[in-house]
Amino acid sequence: MPSSEPESGSNDEPEIQSTSEGRAWEDKSMSVCVIGGAGYIGSVTVETLVSAGYEVVVYDNLSRGHRKAVIPEARFVKGDHGDSTLLEETLRRYDCTAVMHFSALSLVAESVENPFCITRTTWQKP
Ligand SMILES: NC(=O)c1ccc[n+]([C@@H]2O[C@H](COP(=O)([O-])OP(=O)(O)OC[C@H]3O[C@@H](n4cnc5c(N)ncnc54)[C@H](O)[C@@H]3O)[C@@H](O)[C@H]2O)c1
Repeated sequence: MPSSEPESGSNDEPEIQSTSEGRAWEDKSMSVCVIGGAGYIGSVTVETLVSAGYEVVVYDNLSRGHRKAVIPEARFVKGDHGDSTLLEETLRRYDCTAVMHFSALSLVAESVENPFCITRTTWQKP
């Protein structure tokens, strides 16, 4: 039977294990990193997570988003999702146990004009 608890005797950091009921999300001690959290979808997600009692750290390069869109209750790190060193440091520093990824170049017109730029930015290895 699936469980949201880490296996006993393990020294590993707790894993997010989903259950059919999605119980993992009831553990409010989880710290969530929202990449692209200064954008339209990400900033609303951050507010929802904070309201629900989660610790949240926003990781965003502010290329399209806005620092003011990040509510003061959330921590903020300015960084690019392609900067794996800073991203890893951030995930470790804030002990993140979940990541929500919204960083992208999402404008349709831009993707038609410059598809390769969009592809590089959106799909580059985080
Ligand atoms: N807005 C919508 O209605 C909608 C609907 C469905 C899906 N989506 C998807 O949701 C995601 C977010 O869309 P959005 O509307 O919030 O876009 P947005 O432009 O408002 O937000 C994207 C955020 O990502 C950041 N970002 C971009 N490149 C980055 C990089 N390399 N490193 C770090 N941060 C970076 C930007 O600064 C911005 O804050 C996209 O994948 C989009 O396709 C959006």
